Amino acid sequence: MERTLSIIKPDGVERGLIGEVIKRFEDNGLKVIAMKMVKMSKEEAEGFYHVHRGKAFFESLTTFMSSGPTVVMVLEGDNAIQRARDLMGATNPQEAAEGTLRRQFGSNIESNTVHGSDGPDTATFEIDYFSNDLEISR
Ligand code: CMP
Repeated sequence: MERTLSIIKPDGVERGLIGEVIKRFEDNGLKVIAMKMVKMSKEEAEGFYHVHRGKAFFESLTTFMSSGPTVVMVLEGDNAIQRARDLMGATNPQEAAEGTLRRQFGSNIESNTVHGSDGPDTATFEIDYFSNDLEISR
């Protein structure tokens, strides 16, 4: 069993896609084991995306991610990290495969509806970043 963190980004929440995204994960064998709605501050978004600090898109990304409510969830299942990534599709919706969440719902590389951890170390950091002991069993 593996865990990964997923976020329904402000564009997804704004457009009423919370249910669609969760259903896609659940229909494909990923179990939601923790979930909450989070309106990040700019500083919280910067901390979450710290690995991207210094990149050209960092300012815009963290401004966007703190612009409205998000839904943060922990998904669990066999090979959960890669399976969630497969369901999301490529970062840029225009390059994402047909039928993936980002292809179907994403507007551009920033407003791409959903985030998912990109590896085991990132997943551990990201789950710990948002979860306290009342919300998840470790
Ligand atoms: P996400 O999976 O949330 O991780 C970092 C985010 O940065 C990514 O999705 C994109 O939404 C956003 N981003 C914006 N511009 C770029 C870019 N040029 N390359 C990669 N990610 C980008």
